[in-house]
Amino acid sequence: MRLGLGFSVLLVALAISPLPSESSCQRECDALASYFVTSETGNLSLVSNLFGVSNEAIMTASNITNKDILIAGTRLSVPIQCQCLAGGAYSADPIPYTLVRGDTYNIIAQDRFNNLTTSTWLAATNNYPAINVPEGAKINVTVNCSCGDASISTDYGYFETYPLRDGENLRSVAAAFNFSSPENLQLLREYNPGVNFSSGDIVFVPTKDSNGSYHPLSKQSSGSGISGGAVAGIAAAVIVVVLALAIYVYFGIYRKRKARKALLLPSTHEDNYVGHGLGGSSITDKVSLQSPRTGSAVSITAFPVDKSVEFPYEELAKATNNFSIANKIGGGGFGDVFFAELRGEKAAIKILKDISSKEEFLAELKVLTHVHHLNLVRLIGYSIDVSLVLVYEFIDNGDLSQHLRRSGRTPLSWPARVQIALDSARGLEYIHEHTVPVCIHRDIKSANILIDKNFRAKVADFGLARLTDVGHSSVQTRKAAGTMGYMPPEYVRYGDVSTKVDVFAFGVVLFELISAKEAIIVAERKGLTTLFEGALSQPDPKEELKKLIDPNLKDEYPIDAVLKMALLAKACTQEEPQLRPSMRSIVVALMTLSSATEDWDLGALHENQSFVNLMSGR
Ligand SMILES: Nc1ncnc2c1ncn2[C@@H]1O[C@H](COP(=O)(O)OP(=O)(O)OP(=O)(O)O)[C@@H](O)[C@H]1O
Ligand SMILES: *[C@@H]1O[C@H](CO)[C@@H](O)[C@H](O)[C@H]1NC(C)=O
Ligand SMILES: *[C@@H]1O[C@H](CO)[C@@H](O)[C@H](O)[C@H]1NC(C)=O
Ligand SMILES: *[C@@H]1O[C@H](CO)[C@@H](O)[C@H](O)[C@H]1NC(C)=O
Ligand SMILES: *[C@@H]1O[C@H](CO)[C@@H](O)[C@H](O)[C@H]1NC(C)=O
Ligand SMILES: *[C@@H]1O[C@H](CO)[C@@H](O)[C@H](O)[C@H]1NC(C)=O
Ligand SMILES: *[C@@H]1O[C@H](CO)[C@@H](O)[C@H](O)[C@H]1NC(C)=O
Ligand SMILES: *[C@@H]1O[C@H](CO)[C@@H](O)[C@H](O)[C@H]1NC(C)=O
Ligand SMILES: *[C@@H]1O[C@H](CO)[C@@H](O)[C@H](O)[C@H]1NC(C)=O
Repeated sequence: MRLGLGFSVLLVALAISPLPSESSCQRECDALASYFVTSETGNLSLVSNLFGVSNEAIMTASNITNKDILIAGTRLSVPIQCQCLAGGAYSADPIPYTLVRGDTYNIIAQDRFNNLTTSTWLAATNNYPAINVPEGAKINVTVNCSCGDASISTDYGYFETYPLRDGENLRSVAAAFNFSSPENLQLLREYNPGVNFSSGDIVFVPTKDSNGSYHPLSKQSSGSGISGGAVAGIAAAVIVVVLALAIYVYFGIYRKRKARKALLLPSTHEDNYVGHGLGGSSITDKVSLQSPRTGSAVSITAFPVDKSVEFPYEELAKATNNFSIANKIGGGGFGDVFFAELRGEKAAIKILKDISSKEEFLAELKVLTHVHHLNLVRLIGYSIDVSLVLVYEFIDNGDLSQHLRRSGRTPLSWPARVQIALDSARGLEYIHEHTVPVCIHRDIKSANILIDKNFRAKVADFGLARLTDVGHSSVQTRKAAGTMGYMPPEYVRYGDVSTKVDVFAFGVVLFELISAKEAIIVAERKGLTTLFEGALSQPDPKEELKKLIDPNLKDEYPIDAVLKMALLAKACTQEEPQLRPSMRSIVVALMTLSSATEDWDLGALHENQSFVNLMSGR
């Protein structure tokens, strides 16, 4: 009863909190960098080597036909790949540069990259101190860029980064880009807030590609497809994969699948779960686990829940406009992610790279498609005929790290944060306790917690670590999954993997929910765990904690509840894996916290911990 009340309070709180606006930086895109040709520039190869792109790419983008003659005083348009920076701004993929004799940050910025970057920015983004960058040193050159901003206009998604020279101004730039109407001038100002268009400023100007498209932001826009080379590569890979699969299908899959199915039946060790006076909770959990996904964005009719759908590659290509850049919503360690309209539903499509053995992969995949939970991003299906592709339900509202740290997002209220913590804890608990064999996520982080339009959280990428693992034959070749700042000591040092790896990372996410800080605070070279441990060990932890609480929460948080969440996070991030609570205990603790009553005593947590110690014995 108490819980029901708590949840209604939360739901009301969630319902009245306004929807956030579009974040300032959400995707990757193609962009251009305007390179001013001087008499020292020499030939095109010098420029293409500098940026690491082909002569042809520059020639197409710049509409020039002669690679041997560059005219001083003109500009080249160099294609760059634009991506999101941690701070919410856009930046091109870092360009490696090796210092030659006489180079300084100043010379590199002004005379090599012709003011596409600044010495200050080079110093800020590299480790060498500005006064002494050794010859032969390798640095990364970062050029800022833009992918547009839906809150300004959805017509423009293709931008040129343009360093202004002496004598240039807003009007001259607008004229050069045929962007001079009063509305367009206003747009230029909006795309470059705080810039006064004087010499030395770097501005972003909407531009057309060689096909005359501005790459509008709508999902249907046409962008560049995958290149011919990529198609050939994929085609070659396909032949190998298809052969391997054919053999596999004949010899193993059928038996294996049967075995897996049996293992996936509802778990039989239900009795082991001790509820500590909140026994009712496991029943509530169970109901929500097994019930149809009513809150899901994916309708049950289009994609049957009890079956994984195999999609023909053709259909996925069509649904993503040939995997066009305009549909790309991200790229992680495992591959690129695209938005797709698939059979009338929105979907996120992940193309996997680096899978060397496909057989186990396929078996594993079939298991994952049977895992369903309201707080797990659903794997709808897959495709294997051309590339290895995973098809997920699309979650509308970005990921947790964006909600906590991107400007332009309405700050999450405290009750929303508790709900997100509880939702993700439930998702994790499910994969830890209800899948056979046990599934360990290994890459829990705020970027992998997706938020839907009702501000409910879903854990993404579960099973990916194992999926990619089984793709590699031996332990030695395994890719260490995980993200700095979220990995516990035993995992970093010895590669020990247990469910407690996820518990540790979840604790870091709890610290993030409280503080909105990154897991590693670069400026202070410190992990979030260290920061909070320091605060919590002070004589007056509440006062110390207040200094760490996300300023966006203003004063609208119950400090006692925040302290409890911090202590829970601290318990999760203990050195000793055995001492960390199980996800089940964490769910119980968070349920109590979210019920908004004040009877959450630490005794309960300690009890849970001794329970953990008893149960694990490891
Ligand atoms: N199902 C989905 N619905 C909506 N957006 C998604 C979905 N899956 C992923 N994304 C978005 O795509 C981006 C990349 O996701 P992905 O999980 O591949 O990368 P990552 O978490 O950054 O890295 P890693 O692969 O190492 O976990 C993220 O910004 C995420 O917000
Ligand atoms: C470009 O210039 C470099 C150095 O001046 C020279 O070595 C190279 O041969 C030139 N390339 C072409 C294609 O002219
Ligand atoms: C490219 O340049 C040619 C002449 O140099 C011009 O006729 C043509 O319109 C230009 N194309 C674009 C897309 O600007
Ligand atoms: C870069 O900026 C400096 C200072 O404004 C200027 O002297 C120099 O000519 C610029 N370089 C180029 C290639 O535009
Ligand atoms: C690039 O963008 C970042 C973040 O907005 C900013 O701090 C930096 O000064 C910019 N660098 C350049 C060279 O404009
Ligand atoms: C440059 O960037 C790459 C990719 O982001 C990174 O792996 C590398 O460590 C960076 N190098 C330096 C010197 O910062
Ligand atoms: C410039 O833009 C206008 C519309 O804004 C268009 O009618 C005109 O053809 C464009 N001119 C060039 C040279 O692209
Ligand atoms: C724009 O910047 C220049 C140089 O930094 C400065 O002299 C000028 O006053 C600025 N103009 C406005 C309108 O802020
Ligand atoms: C222009 O269109 C052609 C044919 O549709 C395509 O191959 C090319 O990649 C497109 N170019 C750009 C920059 O999108």
